[in-house]
Amino acid sequence: MSDENDTTSSRGHWGSRWGFILAAAGSAVGLGNIWKFPYITGENGGGLFVLIYLACIAFVGLPIMLAEIMIGRSAQKQPVGAFRKLQGKDTPWTVVGWFGIVAGFIILSYYIVVAGWSMDFALKSVLNFTEPVEKVATIEAKSFRSTSSDDQLRSYLAEIRAKHQSRQEIESIHRSVKPSVWEMHSIWQEVLKKQPTRSFSEDPQLAEAVPLAQSKIAEKARVEKRSLADALTHYQQMDIQEVSDEAEAAKRREIIAAKVGAIFGATASDGWTSSFWATLFMAITIIIVAGGVSRGIERACKILMPLLIALILVMVVYGVFQPGFEEAVRFVFEPDASKLRPSGVLEALGHAFFTLSLGMGCMLTYGSYQKTKMGLGKTTLMIALFDTVIALLACMMIFPIIFSYGQEPSAGPGLVFISMPLAFAEMGAGGLLLAIIFFVLLVFAALTSAVSLLEVVCSYLIDEQGWPRKKAAVTVGLACLAFGLPSAFAMDSGFLLESWESGYSKNFFDTMDHLASNWLLPLGGLLIAIYAGWVMPARLRAAEVEDMSPLLVSGWLLLIRFVAPALVLVVLAQKIGILDINELLG
Ligand code: TRP
Repeated sequence: MSDENDTTSSRGHWGSRWGFILAAAGSAVGLGNIWKFPYITGENGGGLFVLIYLACIAFVGLPIMLAEIMIGRSAQKQPVGAFRKLQGKDTPWTVVGWFGIVAGFIILSYYIVVAGWSMDFALKSVLNFTEPVEKVATIEAKSFRSTSSDDQLRSYLAEIRAKHQSRQEIESIHRSVKPSVWEMHSIWQEVLKKQPTRSFSEDPQLAEAVPLAQSKIAEKARVEKRSLADALTHYQQMDIQEVSDEAEAAKRREIIAAKVGAIFGATASDGWTSSFWATLFMAITIIIVAGGVSRGIERACKILMPLLIALILVMVVYGVFQPGFEEAVRFVFEPDASKLRPSGVLEALGHAFFTLSLGMGCMLTYGSYQKTKMGLGKTTLMIALFDTVIALLACMMIFPIIFSYGQEPSAGPGLVFISMPLAFAEMGAGGLLLAIIFFVLLVFAALTSAVSLLEVVCSYLIDEQGWPRKKAAVTVGLACLAFGLPSAFAMDSGFLLESWESGYSKNFFDTMDHLASNWLLPLGGLLIAIYAGWVMPARLRAAEVEDMSPLLVSGWLLLIRFVAPALVLVVLAQKIGILDINELLG
């Protein structure tokens, strides 16, 4: 039935309600869940951040997703056409639609770069890329052992152990002072260099901050010295045979870590390699979108999503049997207020938009391909739940491995491309298979999301400009690829050097990501919430929520009218600098 629709009318439709749910879940589940969520959870110390994120999903994400699907379904149009149709003419709301199309284009342009890296690593895993690294490391570690004196081996081990031991204590020292205090301390050092005679009291803020920072720095040095002394005693009491064995193994790990890290660095900093993979990834995305709504997108999602779930489950089951599993569960689910960065609250809300594909009319467009007026509440809940469960499962497949193989959870964006390959390398033969599974699933997740981003822009050209679908997919895809090239080259060593020298640290890639996730999506989401809550004709709204219980509808109205806009406004105000959430939270 749906296939006929694709050919007989210009607008496509989903073949079934399940088709819609899978496609929308495919859009939501992507690099945001598997690459970004685990690493920002790691950076924010786990537990409490996850809790705040879940609250953002429930109080902001869910109501806005419902609003988007409702608007799209009611208008049967993509963002630009939808606001025009519901308002009966062009109003300023049409601009919100435009906004979304531009945002989708921008996000897709750098999304394909990260997706390309995933493809690169999937192939590398098939080719067993860590094997040569392990071989070299084994040889170098042996020679390190034979050329070092007993004392050198002892102090080498002691240093590693001391760093590990003191890590948590030092982290807590850092947390016990505001980060800005550290900054002020270094500013003050600069001032002193230029004006050695200046005294603290001339700047009241510094007068307060500097002694505090100084005492903490001294405390840190004390902790470091004590740990080192402890570790040295430990190794002096140990049999030298054991010390040598341990030192050789540690050296081997260190070399593997450095070399595996360099592999990702080599890919990311090589603009040509990055562009090559981004191009290939975009080509596949174009083919799927060109296939149409039900025969391209829906079919791809119906194949890829079950595979994705199966692969994730394999990884999670593996994780359950790892020694680091318990630590991982505690890390992800045990709230610890002292570990949360205040900016984590903002990050959680921004990420809620990104991971649910909200704020730019993506869910709106997917909703517009739905014909049935039933089950808006249930489907929305299902899509959001699906996305959330996958994000949590992603943590449960990544962190057990990270903890079992002695990696740091706070590794940042390199968590997936550096720490995970490292752990795979440590695992030996089984690691190879897991690496392949892991990167293939990353590619699948990215693909169904990229498809949704491309579809929004194409949908506009098809609906409003009468373009044939294939022409739209190819043209927009290629244009977006061209726009993404600066992102692919952003980490190129030449570019990096330039930006360092000019003192400008944000590259094109970061700028685009920042612009889209921190500004365009929250702003778009805010406007969509206001529209759905206050502006959309009540008669049309009522028709969409007919089958929802009155209590649920009032609950949603409360969230979409007041709670969601208020929370987004707080975040935007903080970003503009009107409000300081660090101060608000103490
Ligand atoms: N949600 C996807 C992810 O988590 C990315 C994505 C697809 C997206 N479509 C979107 C993000 C629309 C924002 C808006 O990776």
